[in-house]
Amino acid sequence: MDPRLEALLRRMPKAELHLHIEGSLEPEMIFRLAERNHVKLAYGSVEALRAAYAFTSLQSFLDIYYAGASVLRKAEDFFDMAFAYFQRAAADNVVHAELFFDPQTHTARGVPVAAVIEGLEHACRRAHAEYGISASLILCFLRHLSEEEAFAALEEALPHRKHFVGIGLDSSERGHPPEKFARVFARCGELGLHRVAHAGEEGPPEYISAALDVLKAERIDHGVRCVEDPALVQRLARQRVPLTVCPLSNVKLCVFGSMAEHNLPALLQAGLCVTVNSDDPAYFGGYVNSNFLTLFAARPELGREQALTLARNSFEASFAGAAQKAAWARQLDAVAAASG
Ligand code: HPA
Ligand code: ZN
Repeated sequence: MDPRLEALLRRMPKAELHLHIEGSLEPEMIFRLAERNHVKLAYGSVEALRAAYAFTSLQSFLDIYYAGASVLRKAEDFFDMAFAYFQRAAADNVVHAELFFDPQTHTARGVPVAAVIEGLEHACRRAHAEYGISASLILCFLRHLSEEEAFAALEEALPHRKHFVGIGLDSSERGHPPEKFARVFARCGELGLHRVAHAGEEGPPEYISAALDVLKAERIDHGVRCVEDPALVQRLARQRVPLTVCPLSNVKLCVFGSMAEHNLPALLQAGLCVTVNSDDPAYFGGYVNSNFLTLFAARPELGREQALTLARNSFEASFAGAAQKAAWARQLDAVAAASG
């Protein structure tokens, strides 16, 4: 790759909007926390665990991802995990991050939601103080569980309402359409929470339309299967619905056979508000800059202009205020001018 393009991709300020914080647990930290909390793991070593990261589908990944999260017990564990992510994000010039977390994964093991949110929130504050990163939290409901359970998770989290800006929908997509969560998303809308949803990763384009129409999602996480419905692509472009795309994740989970086959360039070409994100970086082979670098290395049609568009889109698609977004856009312009 042109070294000037590589430098721009690394240095440009960017926002990360699709990051499951439990997916940032590196194998070394899984083992450290397992020892600290006396949790028995099914794998004997870091190497054996890493060797299991050969996924064939979303579900094959989720099984290992939930096993990894079982080492998280106390607020300090959530703090350590999230602060390690922020150190990596700062190195990648992430200036704003909206972190997904899955409370139900932890409360099912008897971990109080207060410990989850307090640990994560403390890491967000520290990231701002040490790195100037602005960070917020998005509570995700597990879609393989019932809507009743999502309501219970919301109720438990509401005493901590000021610490999260929105709600999302993740876990196994196939067979769990957005309609299943219509009422809980409506309630969250009344509470003034932002709404996002995973859709069109493995599920059909109809799930994307339903996430917009039924759940009133403001952003679609993944959304890459929209291309199967040209009218939907036109709608996403017209309404500037952001898609938080995760290139390394999509290749690791076999949504695309290789980076050379990924449709992100086509989505950009169609005028969609596409962003680049890392999803579960400890499991999929890299943090946000690795996603940019691997994608751009595989796709010669992507250059300086697309890099800047992707960074600009990440700010536009964020839930930050207008003045903050304008300030980041100016920072981006300054980096672009210096690397021109
Ligand atoms: N898709 C759905 N659920 C998830 C993912 C994902 O990529 N990562 C963590 N939970
Ligand atoms: Zn995801």
